[in-house]
Amino acid sequence: KTEPLSPLKKMYQDATEFYQHILLTTKTGENALKYAHDRELDEDLLEHFKIGYAPDNDGILLTFLKQKGYEDDLLRRSGLFVESKEGKLYDRFRDRLMFPLSDEVGRTIAFSGRRISNNSEIAKYMNSPETEIFTKSKLLFHLSEAKKAARSEGHLILYEGYMDVIAAYKAGIKSGVASMGTSLTDEQVYILKRITPNVIINYDGDPPGIHAAERACGMFQKANGFNLGIVVLPENLDPDEYVKKYGAQKYQGQVKAALTPIDFLLNRLALKFNLHNDREKLSFIDEAVQLIAPLNDPVAEDLYLGKIAKQTSVSIESLKVSVLRARRKLN
Ligand code: UTP
Ligand code: MN
Ligand code: MN
Ligand code: MN
Ligand code: MN
Repeated sequence: KTEPLSPLKKMYQDATEFYQHILLTTKTGENALKYAHDRELDEDLLEHFKIGYAPDNDGILLTFLKQKGYEDDLLRRSGLFVESKEGKLYDRFRDRLMFPLSDEVGRTIAFSGRRISNNSEIAKYMNSPETEIFTKSKLLFHLSEAKKAARSEGHLILYEGYMDVIAAYKAGIKSGVASMGTSLTDEQVYILKRITPNVIINYDGDPPGIHAAERACGMFQKANGFNLGIVVLPENLDPDEYVKKYGAQKYQGQVKAALTPIDFLLNRLALKFNLHNDREKLSFIDEAVQLIAPLNDPVAEDLYLGKIAKQTSVSIESLKVSVLRARRKLN
């Protein structure tokens, strides 16, 4: 714990504090602080997540870090700056609310900056490039804190975005991490596996989020040994929007009502077919049976087959025969 910071991590720590200072105490930060308040980020949350503001200025961080004595070479390697053709450095992040991304012990190793204007021509979030201390595919936002909370909460919850993790935190769920978008990586799955087998996926309730949840399900199942839950929020809402609209208690209820992966995938599957048409019904059953076949839990099998039988008016006995046939093909 007392291991000294590498120079680059020290630089990121200084940058984090600098951006926090600008957001919380300066006139330059007023507008961004208003944006943060509009998004219901109060001072405690801003402090806990070390959120700051990079002003609309192309050299303020550079000047600050040079004055702190950082060498040119380190500044160039940091990813905090962009370089002109002539080799001059400029601050990379401008007019953005800054979310520090941290390593497993909570030290900043990169940033993601959110635009605070509603100019949709600029990217909503901008990330640090990869550096010697930051590999994007291996990072989960808020992991250092969430893994402590996972012990008391008994699970980890996987979100898409920073604001979702923060909204959950505000709603009393401190075990949230974000994959930082919808493209979960195998590395992230592996990292989660070391922490807990109990993972709840709560991606956005919009079509991209639901598709990403299906894909994530497959990845966790392939990794084996996870006990998964899936939360699908209504009305295309993301967790942040859901908490804002329905409150903390309702949100906690959604988490408690997380679906098993099979229930989630069966629900998804049922939406792809018109079950009033026999041909489509048979295709549905064929695919549903593929989902059930790998299970080796007769109770779970009965439970799911009961649901499929109800949906299709096919007997559980016939469905069981199909499952057995599909299972034989698996081995
Ligand atoms: P979303 O588009 O769902 O954004 O992307 P969000 O988290 O709801 O953000 P707000 O509420 O509008 O502020 C989910 C995540 O994907 C990554 C970010 O990590 C974001 O939180 N992302 C999204 C990017 O990296 N860049 C983008 O331009 C957009
Ligand atoms: Mn804390
Ligand atoms: Mn989304
Ligand atoms: Mn979202
Ligand atoms: Mn959002």
